[in-house]
Amino acid sequence: MIASSLNPITIGHKRPSADQIKIVGGSGYDLRQPIPVKYHDVRERFLNARKNFWTPNEIPMGEDKLQWNTGALTEAEEWLFKTNISYLTAGDNLVPDNLVNAIFQHITANEMRQYLRWVMAEEANHVESYLFILESFGLDEKGQGKIYNLYQDLPDLVKKVNWNLDFTNNVVNCDAPIGSLEAVRALLEDLISYYVFEYMFFPLGFAQIFALARKGKLRNTAQQYSYIWRDEVQHADNGAWLIRQIAREYPDIWDAKMQDKALALINEGLKLEVAHAHAVMPDGGILGLSVQTYIEYAKFVADNACRNLGLKPLFGIKTHPMPWISEYELNHETNFFEGRVREYQTGSQLNWD
Ligand SMILES: [Fe+2]
Ligand SMILES: [Fe+2]
Repeated sequence: MIASSLNPITIGHKRPSADQIKIVGGSGYDLRQPIPVKYHDVRERFLNARKNFWTPNEIPMGEDKLQWNTGALTEAEEWLFKTNISYLTAGDNLVPDNLVNAIFQHITANEMRQYLRWVMAEEANHVESYLFILESFGLDEKGQGKIYNLYQDLPDLVKKVNWNLDFTNNVVNCDAPIGSLEAVRALLEDLISYYVFEYMFFPLGFAQIFALARKGKLRNTAQQYSYIWRDEVQHADNGAWLIRQIAREYPDIWDAKMQDKALALINEGLKLEVAHAHAVMPDGGILGLSVQTYIEYAKFVADNACRNLGLKPLFGIKTHPMPWISEYELNHETNFFEGRVREYQTGSQLNWD
């Protein structure tokens, strides 16, 4: 499989017309030209993301460092934190790996290529956030390494990681030409697993730490996670948009069979999340958050994932099981944090004098 962006160019102008451009699998035009912009929402997403770029070292970590080094966390809380950051670090590596190795090869609209490059930069920034958190606790390389390794020791987490990897590899190893129904179908399944990651796995992971922060533990880490969450919301929106757009442009693919498949994948994601929760959260509930409530929340999120793809919700959870989580959403009216959480545009206060 060779991406059309890698075909040698030939003499002659091949600037696309808007009609010719396809979101994936387009051919016969020069992908390197930023005009015409066909998908204006996508360009807007890039411009918004650029305004909201942040860096982990903007968030002070002193309170968490003190808690970490003075035994303020119980054993169960420490275990939850370690497995959490271990899994999320792996996850924030997996997502850009998927984008660069599989998804990106198929994207044939310049504005989406531009935005996905930015998404990859944000994922790199998320990994930097996890590094910054552990470094700020004063952990040396050995101490950090033990934490990063942890997810590989837990079968439920290994299974969850491999689940996403399988879809990426299906796209990478697909011999069908880009733009063919077979190739787009493999891509679509990978994109649904990507969506489950961005829309379900990440926010649910953040919720574990928000539960600790709600009781006054690791609030600086939670603040880092709030910023990451804001990015992931955009990535997920874009993922859902991409899936729906492919369905519009390749209506034959989005048939009843594929819709059932999408539901099955969301359900598989939910099961992986449930197994993950049981592996890292004690049964009696950790700090007021019971595993049962967490699983209800996971189902609530899964239902919304179905709706966002135009599908009937799997579980029918009507009310939000953890409404307090909105306190950790940036741009929310009442903000939980006493710190410097702010709605800001990077660069807006730069002084060039
Ligand atoms: Fe991320
Ligand atoms: Fe993401």
